[in-house]
Amino acid sequence: MSVFQATASAPVNIACIKYWGKRDTKLILPTNSSLSVTLDQDHLRSTTTSRADPSFKKDTLWLNGKDDPIKEGGRLATCINELKRLRKVLVEDKDASAPKLSTYAVHIASYNNFPTAAGLASSASGFAALVSSLAKLYELPSTPSELSLIARQGSGSACRSLFGGYVAWEMGTKADGSDSYAVEVAPQSHWPEMHAVICVVNDAKKGTSSTSGMQRTVETSALLQHRIKHVVPKRMADISAAIQARDFDAFAQITMADSNQFHAVALDTEPPIFYMNDVSKAIIALIVEYNRVALEKTGHLKAAYTYDAGPNAVIYTLQENAKEIVELIHKYFPQKEAFNDRFQLFGGEGVKGKVVEGFNEAVAQPHEVDAVKGIIHTKVGDGPRTLGAEESLLNAEGTPK
Ligand code: DP6
Repeated sequence: MSVFQATASAPVNIACIKYWGKRDTKLILPTNSSLSVTLDQDHLRSTTTSRADPSFKKDTLWLNGKDDPIKEGGRLATCINELKRLRKVLVEDKDASAPKLSTYAVHIASYNNFPTAAGLASSASGFAALVSSLAKLYELPSTPSELSLIARQGSGSACRSLFGGYVAWEMGTKADGSDSYAVEVAPQSHWPEMHAVICVVNDAKKGTSSTSGMQRTVETSALLQHRIKHVVPKRMADISAAIQARDFDAFAQITMADSNQFHAVALDTEPPIFYMNDVSKAIIALIVEYNRVALEKTGHLKAAYTYDAGPNAVIYTLQENAKEIVELIHKYFPQKEAFNDRFQLFGGEGVKGKVVEGFNEAVAQPHEVDAVKGIIHTKVGDGPRTLGAEESLLNAEGTPK
């Protein structure tokens, strides 16, 4: 008997123009367009195996090996049902000989190769991998933009993980959401020098989730209305042009300004939401000073910070500056564990904390070990990948390996 199964992996993305606010909470339709860089799934990824079988009793998901109940009418169920519907309409109704996979229950195992506790956006890569593996299982003829319509209903930012490189989520205007999907602005190969240094900031408190935080912002922030109408449309056009021209100065300016404004609308929410902590703010001070020196010496910016709904910093930079940034962070934030030097910046030697010449060291205080609990160096990457049977996360019985 044949086994109907597929495995896919999908990347994380980090927005430069932030999605924050929904005009439809069920369909997950945003109040503004957004734009992100897809990060390399060789380093950070979600992998998902899906199998359809007539003997399975009900749709079941295991997340990192643990049974994760699928809530009826919830986001996960919506994605699975939508993909089953496409299987029926696009494949089974057209070809009577196609197996009726849409009528079978599915077993799904998903695994993140980074700790969910790191506070990195696992829902984006997770839903993108889920949608990609089911689309492959069902042999759907759908394009990544079409699949992004479904991933969007799992988690808004997930729609952007259906592409590699530089990706826009066009907000759309239709009530049914059919024009709210992701498009590729430029492939990874257009500007492969884009690197990212992620500072995983130690965070004891459980913060406000994106979903509830953005809803409160929509309901209470006057500043959000200004942002939606008068700020984001121009920024989307300007950053797309900057990416086309590989203009890092413009890219960096817009990215930092948009991160700042996202945290400003969070603060403008009633009651206010604070996602950045003192460590996040110290990293901003370091990047501002680093850019001041760079501007003075070369006339160009070298780094762009951005923060999502938590204290972690993502610093975009061009490959040639990554070493200086890793040294700068080490100078102020001593590390317990050795830096994973996957780009061979330090030739086998440990990283020594260091600032560039002319840097005003007084802009921040050195912190204790563990204030930044990890530094991940990665770069722009490709979109979802289909993997071979040897990468399957399910065993012969259809449960996690
Ligand atoms: C700050 O996509 O996690 O990371 O659609 O409710 O699941 P839901 O929200 P989510 O929000 C991401 C918010 C952000 C900005 C961004 O990624 O654009």
